[in-house]
Amino acid sequence: MSEGILLAKVARGTLLPEPERVARLREALPQIEAALAGETDEVAIQATLACLLWETLVQTNWCGFYRRIGDRLLAVGPYQGNMGCLRIPFERGVCGACARTGETQLVPDVQVFPGHIACDDATRSELVLPVFVQDRLVAVLDLDSSHLEGFCQAEARLLEQLLARCCVPVQEG
Ligand code: SME
Repeated sequence: MSEGILLAKVARGTLLPEPERVARLREALPQIEAALAGETDEVAIQATLACLLWETLVQTNWCGFYRRIGDRLLAVGPYQGNMGCLRIPFERGVCGACARTGETQLVPDVQVFPGHIACDDATRSELVLPVFVQDRLVAVLDLDSSHLEGFCQAEARLLEQLLARCCVPVQEG
């Protein structure tokens, strides 16, 4: 039976100072990678990442995946937090912008992001990262926070590296 990961207890919703957030994420990353070692099932990987990143990134009020289910359409995947929108076209919101461009979207204030989808009125900032498998966008990782400037560039870079290492092509027959 898994015991999750070992990190200092911090109350959900806390916005730690940036250096502490980055240190906490750095401490979690090897543990998350160890938890996922050898796993190739997409849902198992996404569900475990949603769970462990929720535990790590205590500033989040939503943490999870939108999966590409069509040419230009996302559907909600494994997540933690309040109920999210079920489907997001590539044309809409921060997730859509990430899927459309294939680039990480760091949005310090959602109120100044044109077309932001307000699934939860409490959300003030977002970080959305693309997930590629063999150069094809298969999903986005959506992280939302009720704090302004809830995420920083250093977190974005570390999470991009995690996704590149953990979201591997499914090889099982
Ligand atoms: N905030 C996202 C929508 C998804 S939910 O908030 C869970 C966006 O604008 O893309």
